[in-house]
Amino acid sequence: MAGRERLIATSDQIVERGRGFRFTVDTPDGRWLPAFAIRYQGVVYAYVNRCAHVSVELDWAEGDFFDISGLYLVCATHGAAYFPNSGRCAMGPCKGGGLQPLPTSERGGNIYLIEQEDATDER
Ligand code: FES
Repeated sequence: MAGRERLIATSDQIVERGRGFRFTVDTPDGRWLPAFAIRYQGVVYAYVNRCAHVSVELDWAEGDFFDISGLYLVCATHGAAYFPNSGRCAMGPCKGGGLQPLPTSERGGNIYLIEQEDATDER
């Protein structure tokens, strides 16, 4: 399904394996969810900021999602580790789960969230 695009950041605000860019996404029922975008191997990925283990935000300090190696996104609460380029669980208590991806597009120095009705479904 095609979606509307919403500008969320400029390209230079999301640096390779740097701090994540936090933003929110609206749900069809009028709520909003915390979300974040990171850059990994040159590509921007965005996810709902909600651990697959327990429904809490991941960052251990605001915007800090990567582990020290820069290879995984880590949940501060119990250490679940996720692959940055898929959101799938790599290790830890998120076994079998994953982060909810949010489609993005980058062009002209800007990063857009592609809003889709089913992008914020609850698990
Ligand atoms: S709440 Fe994220 S690992 Fe437990």
